[in-house]
Amino acid sequence: MRIDILTGLPSLLASPLNDSIVKRSQSKGIVEIVIHDLRDYSLQNQRSIDDYAYGGGAGMVMSPEPIARCFDSLMDEREYDELIYMTPDGTTLNQPMANHLSLKTNLAILCGHYKGIDERIRQHYITKEVSIGDYVLSGGEIAAAVLTDAIVRLVPGVLNDETSALTDSFQDDLLAPPVYTRPANFRDWEVPKILLSGNEGAIEKWREEKAIERTKERRPDLYDRIRGNEED
Ligand code: ADE
Repeated sequence: MRIDILTGLPSLLASPLNDSIVKRSQSKGIVEIVIHDLRDYSLQNQRSIDDYAYGGGAGMVMSPEPIARCFDSLMDEREYDELIYMTPDGTTLNQPMANHLSLKTNLAILCGHYKGIDERIRQHYITKEVSIGDYVLSGGEIAAAVLTDAIVRLVPGVLNDETSALTDSFQDDLLAPPVYTRPANFRDWEVPKILLSGNEGAIEKWREEKAIERTKERRPDLYDRIRGNEED
């Protein structure tokens, strides 16, 4: 899989994409992530990528030219499954969306800034708009890093233990059960006995019960959805 990220602030993306699992996915050669500095595609003397909003009002708007030139050069090289724009008014990212995108071959992600991007880019290039939640960030870079991380860890071969992504919270609409490691007694706080029993069936049942209990308590919306699905 290849992910191209278009940004006016490439340094903001370097660290989150060059560590841990996302880094490993690249060194294993499974995922290629390429960051493009939109200033390299500006035709202005100052390498500027934004301008005043037509009609007035506070805040700058990202100009169409650098974005279009960058997308054009990428699309000359390969076909893209999606051209994604990170924006608070997009569809909210969730696990099914990450699962779906992890099966794609080529994705491009555009990070917005200032007051947003010229609407014509949204109309003529963008195929999918994604928000990471109902709050406004200073720019789309951190949101793009979140989306990239959520996708990349699902690509086959990236995680060592293939089952571990499948047992994440949300993969079956349930939150994950509690987990423990050594020591069995820490400051007089004991690990639940069942986990030390070696009885795999009983442990599985306990984990499922805890996952349901936790989902019911913390995310009644998810819990009601599972119950609704079971009744169908
Ligand atoms: N850019 C600014 N805020 C954002 C958000 N919540 N999600 C995606 N992109 C954004």
